[in-house]
Amino acid sequence: MDSYYVLGNPVEHSKSPWIHARFAELTGQAMRYGKRLAPLDGFAATVRELRAEGARGCNVTVPFKFEAHGVATELSPRARLAGACNTLRFDGDAIHGDNTDGVGLVDDIVRNAGVELAGAQVLLVGAGGAAAGVLGPLLEARPARIVVVNRTVGKANELVAHHRALAQAQGVTLEVEPIEAVREPFDVVVNATAASLSGAAVPVAPSVLRAGALAYDMMYGPAAAGFAAWASEHGAVARDGLGMLVEQAAESFFVWRGVRPPAAQVLGELRATLG
Ligand code: ATR
Repeated sequence: MDSYYVLGNPVEHSKSPWIHARFAELTGQAMRYGKRLAPLDGFAATVRELRAEGARGCNVTVPFKFEAHGVATELSPRARLAGACNTLRFDGDAIHGDNTDGVGLVDDIVRNAGVELAGAQVLLVGAGGAAAGVLGPLLEARPARIVVVNRTVGKANELVAHHRALAQAQGVTLEVEPIEAVREPFDVVVNATAASLSGAAVPVAPSVLRAGALAYDMMYGPAAAGFAAWASEHGAVARDGLGMLVEQAAESFFVWRGVRPPAAQVLGELRATLG
């Protein structure tokens, strides 16, 4: 039976095995999906181990997405743009690297939350790995404008410079503003920072939330609670990243199996399971 894994450190609490088991069941795909803890200094060795065991591919999570980009022998355009991979497919001697995080975010916003990105004003907060993984697909959804803000403004400038050509090709205004100065209202605000992990406050002024705006945190569970409370308090609709998790998994499943699983159904089941 074909086998796949999620590689991370830590990886114990990953929901990917549950999600992919449901996808396989619902689509009749004969496959197994497990989790594998990679030592912090042993990501490449763990990938070699999986390939030697005959695995067909893996998902890659924190903190190995940049290293995964390095071990890939070929890259999808979206993985090249992100500079990081969350999906590897083992094709004989080749390792195909892909990044499905951004498509997962866009699919969750447009399909599951029912919020239009085309023509929208979008604020992306953060310019680390999580933000880099989603900016390309956000641009491809053709909002009117994306503003990137980050505590370290140089990183926002770099990220935007790297995506300048795509923004021009898509006809999207892409700009950086100082994080402490951004005040104007947006339709969609995406939190791609790790601020909540250290208990820090939301790093932007609440006036960035137009009434009824979608305030999206790429995290889920307790890590997303502070941002959600802040958003609701200021008249926005809060959404956590659980749908992004399921949608990026669905896109990875498609990369491996060529079959699209019923992601919305599995998201509903996962939310019910988590209470
Ligand atoms: P990830 O892969 O999760 O994006 P990362 O690359 O370390 O992790 O990026 C973390 C992001 O959260 C960055 O945008 C970071 O801002 P800096 O680039 O200035 O470090 C942001 N971040 C983390 N803690 C923050 C805080 N307390 N306030 C504001 N931004 C924060």
